[in-house]
Amino acid sequence: MQKIVIEGGRPLKGTVDISGAKNSALPILFATILGDGPTMLRNVPDLQDIQTTLRILQFMGAKVANGYPKSLKVQPNGMKHCEAPYELVKTMRASVLAMGPLLGKYRQAKVSLPGGCAIGARPINLHLKAFEQMGASIELEGGYVIAKAPSKKGLHGAKIHFDAVTVTGTENVLMAAVYAKGQTVIENAAREPEILDLAQLLNKMGAKIYGAGTETIVIDGVETMKGTEHSIIADRIETGTFMIGAAMTGGSVKIRGADPETVEALTAKMNECGAKISIDKDTNEIHVEGPKTLKAVDITTAPYPGFATDFQAQYMAMMTVAQGTSVITETIFENRFMHALELIRMGADIKIEGNMAIVKGVKKLSGAPVMASDLRASAALLLAGLVADGITEVHRVYHIDRGYEDIEKKFRKLGARIKRAKVKF
Ligand code: EPU
Repeated sequence: MQKIVIEGGRPLKGTVDISGAKNSALPILFATILGDGPTMLRNVPDLQDIQTTLRILQFMGAKVANGYPKSLKVQPNGMKHCEAPYELVKTMRASVLAMGPLLGKYRQAKVSLPGGCAIGARPINLHLKAFEQMGASIELEGGYVIAKAPSKKGLHGAKIHFDAVTVTGTENVLMAAVYAKGQTVIENAAREPEILDLAQLLNKMGAKIYGAGTETIVIDGVETMKGTEHSIIADRIETGTFMIGAAMTGGSVKIRGADPETVEALTAKMNECGAKISIDKDTNEIHVEGPKTLKAVDITTAPYPGFATDFQAQYMAMMTVAQGTSVITETIFENRFMHALELIRMGADIKIEGNMAIVKGVKKLSGAPVMASDLRASAALLLAGLVADGITEVHRVYHIDRGYEDIEKKFRKLGARIKRAKVKF
């Protein structure tokens, strides 16, 4: 087991390069099995969740070659199993993204049902209901979802109205619908940039998808799809994590390779907090200058283009040292405040009332051993460690390795005193 050890008190200064987006790369890797030939992907981040996805693809019979971590080629010919087994799914719930492409192309999918997760129950009922509307039968057996499309005709197009906005649900239906007979319309679709990235890849492969990035997506089914080449978009959550780090340490950081449009909701709030954020129109670099004193500002999480739930933990870490009191309202996941309890161990003043956290800024946090409960919570604890007095040790760092590429290297390059160490006991 490993831990990350941080000695706080240094402002972040310098330039950081943003990696490819985890939450784009995952559906896109699964989408490669829809093609009749190989797909070459670039800007693929080197992450634990990517490794897990590659293992699932290989288990199914796809061949993965070359150039990893930055680029890789998936050759989906020779698929043997239409299955994502429990051993792999239990480490990454995004494995449910195998279901849409398998059902669409191979007319069957057996995918282990993911259990609950540290941030909420996270059911997949909306994915399954949509598949049923498209003609699939769904059974639950031995912890697996067994989905079957009519063997001769495959899925048919349908009007899918999502009761709640779901990111992977929208992605799963997109991937199932590309081969469906006729037209599928997704209403109340997720509008995250990762949906647009996936739709662009699918269209390059030969799909006919219109309206991705808006709340209504129309998909006209096609009969064949080919392999293609595609570069994964920049990770907006990593971008925001460095923006927050720069601001809360009173630093000055240039963020390279990001897409400023995808972090507009965060940028607006951080400007209100007193951070100075400017965008170089020629290079798209984001420059963040931390203020002497951060002001407390309320936020409420919402689907894109609202304030992302994936920034909530890191933003809370920033609010623990802001001047005044802020209210953080989490509307997407019912249990996404586990980091608050660890921040309190570092001297933060936070009260949780239902889905609201009331954060009263303190002058200083103090370093402590803390435990990461999920990916974004671990990022929040690292950020808190950067401003705390003394040493912070973040345990269970496997969470952070699922979604942040070279995190300590990137922070170290910005001047942070941070290292990885083995846990002795
Ligand atoms: N929901 C249902 N039924 C469903 C699907 C979703 O009730 O069938 C509920 C969820 O329980 C949740 C809400 O709807 O309360 C939204 O969930 P959504 O389906 O949008 O989340 P997701 O697709 O499972 C993705 C990201 C998450 C991110 C959320 C919200 C990927 C692989 N994961 O999850 O990313 O927090 O959207 O933006 O894209 C992360 O990267 O750390 C992460 C958790």
